[in-house]
Amino acid sequence: MCGIVGYLGNGIAQESLIDGLKRLEYRGYDSAGVAFHEGNKFSMARETGRVKNLAEVVQKKSSSSSLGIAHTRWATHGAVTVSNTHPHRSHDGKFVLVHNGVIENFSPLKKFLKGKGIQFTSETDSEVLCNLIAFHYAESPKSEERFVDAVRLALPQCRGAYGIAVLCLDKSDVLIGARRGSPLVVGLGDDANFIASDASAFVGRAKEAVFLNDGELAILRGRDFRITTLEGQEAQAVSHPVDQISEEVELGDFDSYMEKEIFEQPTALKNTLRGRFGDDGTTSKLGGLEGHEDELRDLDRIIFVACGTARHACMVGEYLIERLARVPVEVEHASEFRYRNSPNAGKSLVIAVSQSGETLDTLEAVREAKTKGLLTLGITNVVGSSLARETDGGVYQRVGPEIGVASTKAFSSQACLCAMLGLALGRMRDLSPMDGQAVVEALNGLPDLVAHVLQQAEQIRELAVKYSKAEHLLFLGRQSLYPVALEGALKLKEISYAHAEGYPAAELKHGPIALINPDCPCIFMVEGTELSAKTIANMQEVKARKGQVLAIAPEEIEIPDEAADDIFRLPVAHEVVRPILANLPLQLFAYHFARLRGLDVDKPRNLAKSVTVE
Ligand code: F6R
Repeated sequence: MCGIVGYLGNGIAQESLIDGLKRLEYRGYDSAGVAFHEGNKFSMARETGRVKNLAEVVQKKSSSSSLGIAHTRWATHGAVTVSNTHPHRSHDGKFVLVHNGVIENFSPLKKFLKGKGIQFTSETDSEVLCNLIAFHYAESPKSEERFVDAVRLALPQCRGAYGIAVLCLDKSDVLIGARRGSPLVVGLGDDANFIASDASAFVGRAKEAVFLNDGELAILRGRDFRITTLEGQEAQAVSHPVDQISEEVELGDFDSYMEKEIFEQPTALKNTLRGRFGDDGTTSKLGGLEGHEDELRDLDRIIFVACGTARHACMVGEYLIERLARVPVEVEHASEFRYRNSPNAGKSLVIAVSQSGETLDTLEAVREAKTKGLLTLGITNVVGSSLARETDGGVYQRVGPEIGVASTKAFSSQACLCAMLGLALGRMRDLSPMDGQAVVEALNGLPDLVAHVLQQAEQIRELAVKYSKAEHLLFLGRQSLYPVALEGALKLKEISYAHAEGYPAAELKHGPIALINPDCPCIFMVEGTELSAKTIANMQEVKARKGQVLAIAPEEIEIPDEAADDIFRLPVAHEVVRPILANLPLQLFAYHFARLRGLDVDKPRNLAKSVTVE
């Protein structure tokens, strides 16, 4: 996690760097700092808390430097203090560095440097890397390339992940960036060039973006730049227009990005679906899968790898794809998949799902799958992200930037794309044209159904008021509504800090039922199938033990009065879209529940939008 941005240009660095940090704040917001090259010294400002705290200080100090680096931190090594805040300065004052990632062997490196008499002022791994560069610089003979050489000597000594930007006091026109594991992109503008964790940091200021690959170094010198490998060989610099990479994001009349993104879902889903159905109206047509038809037709199994909310969307996909295409599906925590020795016999397809396309565990799972020779596809929202670039093919979600840390519209579009994938695979196999047509119609009707549910937001707000004192809640559902139960619980705990658990409804009796009392509300998602009777029986088991029940149920399912305290009704819908619809009231419930507690739903404590460390 953490966001880094560096500026080298003709203008004043300050405004671009602070603006860049604000856009990167989704990557972490424990503390923020900036360093400017002032000719004979570095001037620095570092503050705990949000970027706005730093911005106030920087504005007062006002630097006219045209070379600087900045960082917004998600703490990994060391507490949230000013001394642990980046940039870090080397012991001799020659270097400043910002770092995103984790240097796993920082302890022995620190011991080595301490043995050379170097003192440290922070608990971070990043300060160790800064001093390691300074150490190699001091040891290297004077030359034009001495700064670059020092970076090239230090980085191979580090294990773990890094995206760095570093400045040397002796070089007032050089900015160096390097990456391994953590993303880094160079921005090229008319007046300035940039290095940043992602292109949103320089939208509006740079025209072209060049993404670095692992093991590459970006050397910005004056108005020139070049990309090399760590060993010094020139690397190819492929540029992408910045306006296709990221968009400006305005909050408009909404009081948070989470609220805005929940209500954007009808439009977001229209964009996900647009132009993605075959002319005969019985199947989907996903451009990113073209060229892989034979492999897809011949699959033995699908393995989804993802984290958090994206994994819950994959679990919805598991039910839908098995139902539509009869292909065995497994859903793995990306972090577990990469270290498991799972037997990959047969023709397996690995599908990685990640809104940001930068989640390190998911990327590493893809890399592991590729090592094993498996075909990899990606579902991601961010154009040009590492996931998009590293998979063999894939599909963009097209829902626009998701800024709120709690993922909402991304979940809906990921689940929708899983259904579309299931449809395409189903039609390549046994799914009849009539069943295919019904799925196409259901998906095309989804945006309107979503809008219909969101119109009832006020009822959910009232329910959130009623249950807002609860500190423990259970979310329960069967089949494709089980992952929705998991997602509802995740959403609530991450933004309201109340304790919530999701279970398959029938699991209740195997343990969780012991928690039932009047202070532990149970939120049941009721299916629109014959299984609903069983879920209603589970609700009655809770009521029999004086528990409170809120049911989220389709209009057509009758619920006896004694089975639920409250019912929120969903419109009649095809089974492929029901999980997406059932999740909407849970998003709204979590949102209001947290707001009633006075919490910042966009930046919940301890979290970051993009998790780029293991
Ligand atoms: C929860 C949430 C996280 C992310 C997870 C994966 O609301 O946002 O659980 O879903 O960190 O992120 P991506 O999809 O960017 O890989």
